[in-house]
Amino acid sequence: MPSPQVFAATDGAVYTTSNGAAVAHPLAAERVGPVGPLLLQDFHHIDLLAHFDRERIPERVVHAKGAGAHGYFETTHDLSDITSCKLFTDVGKQVKITARFSTVGGESGSADTARDPRGFSLKLKTEQGNLDWVFNNTPVFFIRDPAKFPPFIHTQKRDPQTHLKDADMFWDYLSQNPESAHQVMILFSDRGIPDGYHNMHGYSGHTFKLVKDDGSWVYTQIHCIADGGFKVLDTATARNLSADNPDYGIQSLFETIDAGKFPSWTVYVQTMTPEQAENFRYNVLDLTKVWPHKDYPLRPVGKFVLNENPQNYFAEIEQAAFAPSHLIPYFEASADPVLQSRMFSYPDTHRHRLGANYHQLPVNAPIIPVANFQRDGAMAFNSQGARPNYQSSITPLTYLSNKGSKNGTPRDYERARQHESWVGGAFWDLSEITELDFEQPRALYQNVMDDAARARLVSNIAGHLGGAKSAEVRARTLSYFASVDQSLSDRIAKAIGSPTAKPLAVKPASEAVRFRHGVGAAA
Ligand code: HEM
Repeated sequence: MPSPQVFAATDGAVYTTSNGAAVAHPLAAERVGPVGPLLLQDFHHIDLLAHFDRERIPERVVHAKGAGAHGYFETTHDLSDITSCKLFTDVGKQVKITARFSTVGGESGSADTARDPRGFSLKLKTEQGNLDWVFNNTPVFFIRDPAKFPPFIHTQKRDPQTHLKDADMFWDYLSQNPESAHQVMILFSDRGIPDGYHNMHGYSGHTFKLVKDDGSWVYTQIHCIADGGFKVLDTATARNLSADNPDYGIQSLFETIDAGKFPSWTVYVQTMTPEQAENFRYNVLDLTKVWPHKDYPLRPVGKFVLNENPQNYFAEIEQAAFAPSHLIPYFEASADPVLQSRMFSYPDTHRHRLGANYHQLPVNAPIIPVANFQRDGAMAFNSQGARPNYQSSITPLTYLSNKGSKNGTPRDYERARQHESWVGGAFWDLSEITELDFEQPRALYQNVMDDAARARLVSNIAGHLGGAKSAEVRARTLSYFASVDQSLSDRIAKAIGSPTAKPLAVKPASEAVRFRHGVGAAA
């Protein structure tokens, strides 16, 4: 059966109907005489219109605008002292990858040079299954409480009545949820507008776990550092490009690869033992915080290269289904609640956006055979043949705890569950803001940025906040920035012509909930 990917742009194909019959002329329609009505029997014409009517699938609810390419990941360093994950131990091994980069808030036709975080997704097709890295180009995120995600995203989208983007809504949300300050500082810094999709780094943001066959594990964060460096566009250039070439990012990625200048990244892990996590100043599961490199150094593990443009954007990039829940043995999720929520949300959106059999599409299908009891549904072109659709006693499926399989290392069921255990009672959890939440954004402003970068930050924030009409929203947002640094807030206030504001009243750092491994609520 030919894959949609094997056709070149000009392969001498003969025009046919969708059932493969040759057609006299692709633009002709059958009608009664030269001016009479059309005929229902003209399957070609009806099929043409009917298929056109169904060309659009739902765009991604976030990250709708994107670009992608294929390439490979190569393991360069052995991490077998901390994990049995083959991707991180088989030095020299290459696996095929598909990457997709995106802006977040805009619709599918929006400008690539918007000030917005960028999505940074990789699908690594390993012999142990597909591992998806669904990262951003920033090491932190706006939220740490998962139920905030839909309303937060709504404030970046269009107002329900005016159908316009709305600066009041944007800053109203952020200033009421100040754990966002770190990500907001990055968003309005120089890094807020990368120069194209391939000149930026990617970060897991979330904490994952690297596990060993003996059951021991470490927490990890993944960093993908662009070998060409993180290049940015200044605000004015980006604004001009939004008008002149809204597809700047798609075009530059495609043309760079087409010219044989294959972009590449070096992949590093940061790791932390469970004991270190309990002594870490911040909650290891809080993705609004970074792990300081001096305490948790970057350790190289691999590199990846994008060397192949898609033949068909829709089939290979639009239909790509990346999910943080697509994990492989020994690369596991942590208890980060935002990560846990994402593990549900992405496959759910894929079932909605692409259908229940999204995993069978060529771009999504693992390179190892899938064997389970899922059957049928729309567009099931691989419904697992004659295999029984239950665990048959006559022709049973092999699974890890009985005989092992080619898909992973044999290990027993209990061991697969022992990596972390939790005790506690169920309760409603919503994090609180403490002084800890402003330490890292403050260090970014005071220690990492120079005077010129600080001035650009002020100008970028003022340019956006100046569009907010509500005095209350402006005042609270100035307090939010005063909590980071009073002089930062005062400079923004001056730029937008608002009175200066005092920092938000928040709890001291000593009252922040301490992370204790394995202990849930009310334990
Ligand atoms: C896309 C949900 C947080 C990175 C998406 C999509 C959904 C979603 C529904 C569309 C997926 C699709 O249609 O294929 C959520 C929820 C979050 C969350 C519920 C928090 C509770 C995050 C975070 C990151 C992230 C923290 C990065 C660290 C991405 C990326 C994409 C995406 C890169 C685009 C994937 C692609 O290229 O297909 N998100 N998201 N998201 N999200 Fe999130």
